[in-house]
Amino acid sequence: MNGEAHIRLCTTYEVDELARLRWQLYAEDEPALVDSLEAYRERFLDFARPALEDDRWTVWVAEETGRLVGNIWRYRAPRIQPSRGRTADLAYVTNVYVEPSLRNAGLGSRLLRVAVEASREEGCSLAMVWPSVRSIPFYERVGFKRPPDPLILDLGGDWHAGGAAAARGDDLA
Ligand SMILES: CC(C)(COP(=O)(O)OP(=O)(O)OC[C@H]1O[C@@H](n2cnc3c(N)ncnc32)[C@H](O)[C@@H]1OP(=O)(O)O)[C@@H](O)C(=O)NCCC(=O)NCCS
Repeated sequence: MNGEAHIRLCTTYEVDELARLRWQLYAEDEPALVDSLEAYRERFLDFARPALEDDRWTVWVAEETGRLVGNIWRYRAPRIQPSRGRTADLAYVTNVYVEPSLRNAGLGSRLLRVAVEASREEGCSLAMVWPSVRSIPFYERVGFKRPPDPLILDLGGDWHAGGAAAARGDDLA
């Protein structure tokens, strides 16, 4: 696979492929700790089927030779309307993934730029992401910066994607 991947919106029919991409992300990170793809798919589908029907979620995929090789998810989080005018949604970017054999050739950046530009065109006020440590330069090159202001409180749940790696502080995605 060395052609130029095609980036487009995902269809609801591709949810199994999205499950595979997400499972690959976990399997890469912590191979000893992941469920089988079949077991994971059930949990993923419970989340992803309604998400793909929900206008607040948008998923872009990269396709090469008829196969999905990457994706990016964006959730538009609404904000309470102000006393005057209108507030714009926040664009929460997550699940950015490119298959290992295609990395470091710009495909991830292309996916990220598509999501950022769409969010800009749709009038979102801010894009945000929880990066893994390794991916910080990747986001910074597209213009993401460390903000001074958000406060978070870890309530003990699994709020990050990186499992044990996240617990070690390797991954905040
Ligand atoms: C992050 C990722 C989507 C980038 O895809 P890509 O097609 O390689 O992207 P680009 O070629 O545009 O950019 C390459 C940059 O990605 C980052 N990167 C490379 N390998 C990476 C990896 N395994 N994990 C995270 N980031 C990585 C680096 O910043 C690299 O540039 P640099 O080496 O000059 O710093 C891809 O590496 C990936 O899927 N990683 C695993 C999942 C992940 O970490 N997602 C982001 C978590 S928030």
